[in-house]
Amino acid sequence: MYKIHRNIQSKYKPMLTLSEILPHFEGKKSLLAKHLGISRQAVSRWKQEAPIPEKHEFKLRHQLIGWDDNSMLEKSKPRLTRDIHSSSKLSNVNYEIRGPVLEEAYRLEEEGHRITKLNIGNPGAFGFHAPEEIIQDVIYNLSSAEGYCESRGLFPARKAIMQECQLRGIPNVGINDIYMGNGVSELILMSLQALLENGDEILIPAPDYPLWTASTSLAGGRAVHYLCDENQDWEPDLEDLESKITDRTRGIVVINPNNPTGAVYSKDTLTRIARIAEKHNLIVFADEIYDKVLYDGAVHTPFSTITEDCLVISFGGLSKNYRLAGFRSGWLIVSGAKDKAKDYLEGINILASMRLCANVPGQLAVQTALGGYQSINDLVLPGGRLKQQRDVAWQALNDIPGVSCVKPKGALYLFPKIDPKMYSVPDDEKFVLDLLKSKQLLLVQGTAFNWPTHDHLRIVFLQPHEELQVSIDKLGSFLKKYRS
Ligand SMILES: Cc1ncc(COP(=O)(O)O)c(C=O)c1O
Repeated sequence: MYKIHRNIQSKYKPMLTLSEILPHFEGKKSLLAKHLGISRQAVSRWKQEAPIPEKHEFKLRHQLIGWDDNSMLEKSKPRLTRDIHSSSKLSNVNYEIRGPVLEEAYRLEEEGHRITKLNIGNPGAFGFHAPEEIIQDVIYNLSSAEGYCESRGLFPARKAIMQECQLRGIPNVGINDIYMGNGVSELILMSLQALLENGDEILIPAPDYPLWTASTSLAGGRAVHYLCDENQDWEPDLEDLESKITDRTRGIVVINPNNPTGAVYSKDTLTRIARIAEKHNLIVFADEIYDKVLYDGAVHTPFSTITEDCLVISFGGLSKNYRLAGFRSGWLIVSGAKDKAKDYLEGINILASMRLCANVPGQLAVQTALGGYQSINDLVLPGGRLKQQRDVAWQALNDIPGVSCVKPKGALYLFPKIDPKMYSVPDDEKFVLDLLKSKQLLLVQGTAFNWPTHDHLRIVFLQPHEELQVSIDKLGSFLKKYRS
């Protein structure tokens, strides 16, 4: 005879409550909210003794095992529910450019509000089109892109990148040193996953492009942030950088031209970073996706021209220089001390093969894009749309009392400072959420770029200049509420 068993779920204690969790965060809801990557307001809505939302409970429950609390361990036993949870490997991964504030923006849009989204550097969304010749060539060749290609990428695309390396003075790059990816994004993760053991450290600038920090965590590593100095045109503070090197440090990320600050580093700065990397046997990850988006005669020096004595992994792509973000086409170039890194490079090879290949139609654009006339120059030189927008946005920001902004020399972003002596902004995420609700304007808070204090914002300057002026005026009038 079959016995009827009771529900196994009832054997285990109920889910965690806010009052149980808070002591692990110094009793502060703000710290818990930051840890979970959600707004403080969301946490405030939770009742002390009611179970906290399941998605967050699951992550916390996993982390509590590490806090060695037996009563919590009891609760961390698997429950037989139908819910599907995300991996605890995502617990330390924060990517707030597409975070909870954006979710609120979508909700407002569903309610019929029109939101101005200056949160993502997506040129196509603001009427920046790729050169017609590229699109025509892709269409012409599209039927040849039905099958997988070699896992490193299409030969003509990689050949074009290799020839560009020759023209730019990057020594010793062969066709097999180039890997195509579904955007630089895929290759960032791949390059770190192939390298990092759990607990290995990567030096990443603060502020950063947060995908670097998120990918380091996802690959089991620890992101250690070195400061960039706003008073020195956002140049990296190399003393701070060197002081943070430990025996677990494996590499230094250099984002040049920089997102979010717009800095373009001098040759001298890059040389000093190279000397540090050589001295400590570190890899340099040079994210150079904006290498042609330069203003006021700024010159971009590829990191790989600076040193041959350490391994340099450089990244470039079609998303920004050629306004083709939707094609998801980027590349990784290996240069410098390749002979020291055969095993690591084999790891990259394995990961490239595992995903079979990058999107092939997107690679069809590369040869035409890199050769011949570079239409980005029409946008960044005097009279060009990007330059004009940068000038208007920069001036409009600096015209707001208590707001100051370093003039970007490259890329598509401004990273203004809000003077804490003049304005009281205790929580910058709440600030951008309130700005969104009040003015239907979506920006990203500075802390989302791993900037340590709540006193910066990032603004994408892709809107036409008249509209940018209006958007920044709205920011100025909203800020008045925060005057201390
Ligand atoms: C510094 C930086 N690196 C990488 C990327 C990702 O580029 P892709 O579109 O090639 O994935 C971005 C996108 O904004 C970026 O700003």
